[in-house]
This record gives sequence, C-alpha cells and structure tokens, in this order.
Amino acid sequence: MLSEKMEKILNEQLAKEGYSSDIYLAMASWAEVNGFAGIAKWLYAQSEEERVHMLKFLAYINDRGGHAIVPASEQPPKNYETIQKLFEKVLEHEKYISAAINEIVGKCIELKDYTTHTWIQWFVNEQIEEEAQVKNILDKLALSHDMYIFDRDIMGMRSEDE
Ligand code: FEO
Repeated sequence: MLSEKMEKILNEQLAKEGYSSDIYLAMASWAEVNGFAGIAKWLYAQSEEERVHMLKFLAYINDRGGHAIVPASEQPPKNYETIQKLFEKVLEHEKYISAAINEIVGKCIELKDYTTHTWIQWFVNEQIEEEAQVKNILDKLALSHDMYIFDRDIMGMRSEDE
C-alpha cells in the first residue's frame, strides 16, 4: 500500500511523463512541417515512449492501492528556432526528468518504501540511456554540415532502437 506522500510524488511524476510525451509530440510536428522527416520520426517515437512511461506510473500507483490521476495537459511550445536548439531543449528536459526521478529515489529511502525503491530503478537506468542518446545526437549534429544527411542518419538511429 502506498503512503499518501508517495502516491502524491508518483502522481506528480506521472504528470511530468505525460508532459514529456506532449512536448516531444509538439517538437515532432514542428520538425515534420519544416521538412525534417527523420527527426520527426525520432521525436514521434520518443513521444510514444514517454506515454508508455506515464502508463507505467499509472499502473504502479493503482496496483499499490493508490489512485493514479490523469493530469490536465499544458500546451507545449509549438515553434522551435533551430534543430540544435530543439535537441538542447530535449537534453535539458531529460536532465530535469532525471532529477525528478532522483528525488523519488530519495523519498523512497526517507519513507522506507523499499518496494517503490526497487520499482523505480528501471527509470533510473532509463534516464541514463535517454540522456546518453540525446548527447550522442547533439554530438552528431555538431559534426554535421549537411542537414539532409543528419536527418537521414537520425531516421536510421530510431529503427536500430526498435
Ligand atoms: Fe520518461 Fe524521457 O523521461
């Protein structure tokens, strides 16, 4: 059974994962209308992953006797200046999510909720991968002089994931 404090912090994280899904969807739409099909594909897939993360929180909260709350959605920015700035924003957002997951780990210890502590480890590892993946994209972008090739490469990166 989840404590009220843990239920609240997990519901807050559920909302953050939902917003992650929305912001990547908005970025995907912007990339698509600006002619970057590969980048859009990567972002659409990322948005789907974030929805899966949100659903993992939902299922866990309900399975442990809490009530998962579907949050109101906040409209993410619809325009992004450049691809570089867009991916910098993705990295910044993932760092924010990693910090939030870390807070939950700390809370698990504080509240002696070792079940949630074990469960949340999947997200700790997922954040390592997500940050590394976005850093890798930013490195490729820094080396790339041809956006057509970069866009094609990132499309291939997504298929390797799947
Ligand atoms: Fe679910 Fe990318 O954090």
